[in-house]
Amino acid sequence: MNATPRPATLITGASAGLGVEFARQCAKRGEEVILVARRGDRLDALAAEIGNAHVIVADLAKPEEATRIVAEATSRGLWVNRLINNAGFGLKGRFDELSLARQLEMVDLNIRALTNLSYVVINDMVLKGGGAILNVASTAAFQPGPGMAVYFATKAFVLSFTEALHEEWNGRGIHVSALCPGPTKTEFGAVAGFAEKGAFDRFAADSTSVVRAGLDGLDNNRAVVIPGLLNKFGAASTRFVPRSLVRKIAGAIKY
Ligand SMILES: NC(=O)c1ccc[n+]([C@@H]2O[C@H](COP(=O)([O-])OP(=O)(O)OC[C@H]3O[C@@H](n4cnc5c(N)ncnc54)[C@H](OP(=O)(O)O)[C@@H]3O)[C@@H](O)[C@H]2O)c1
Repeated sequence: MNATPRPATLITGASAGLGVEFARQCAKRGEEVILVARRGDRLDALAAEIGNAHVIVADLAKPEEATRIVAEATSRGLWVNRLINNAGFGLKGRFDELSLARQLEMVDLNIRALTNLSYVVINDMVLKGGGAILNVASTAAFQPGPGMAVYFATKAFVLSFTEALHEEWNGRGIHVSALCPGPTKTEFGAVAGFAEKGAFDRFAADSTSVVRAGLDGLDNNRAVVIPGLLNKFGAASTRFVPRSLVRKIAGAIKY
């Protein structure tokens, strides 16, 4: 007879930045974790550090990978009772000047993989009678981003999608929250092509507090979690300032 599957927290993008911190904090809470990213050597080192961790190396920009990851977790005797959709990247530059292939890869990772994993996992949560999903959006979700057009749009999708799922499951046993960090010290800026010591670096928060806010928000089933007063103020202000001005301000920020 097959043993009952053990609940586990699946964290995408666990080889760097916020994902590493999610893994550390979840492990500290006693959760068995599944670490997903492309750089397997980093995942192996993190798994050895935190213990009680499983590594699944995957390129989530490939459409078949989300389903394979969950099948792989099942084959290891686990079921995903908590999903942290964290993997993502941004690119700085005008839409027409950036590589189309890289921008489509961003859509595949930031939107498609997150949606696919949510779908597979939430259906299992329904069968098992509960679970939790934390989707990492961004303060970029609250306005269009000239100079990072696709990235901001992907995060607007993540926020809208997550709020809708939150409402579909509110009070019915599955927590769904969107974490919207502002600038945070990770490898994000280097991948996106931001200038060193620019506006982004000056305002960057540490990943520990951002992740703690996300996990607390998920525990309390808050639809949207915006860590930091300045970020909360910035997100709220987009509701009161005309959209034409909001996008001009967003486009004027020099990263
Ligand atoms: N840092 C910020 O200022 C900030 C602000 C707002 C929102 N966010 C969001 O926070 C999330 C985490 O980013 P971060 O700041 O921690 O950036 P990071 O340090 O660059 O980490 C990104 C993670 O995503 C993984 N990843 C990238 N492409 C992947 C792919 N194709 N398949 C699987 N994994 C992939 C990377 O692993 P591999 O390269 O090993 O695959 C890495 O583990 C992202 O969704 C980002 O948009 C960040």
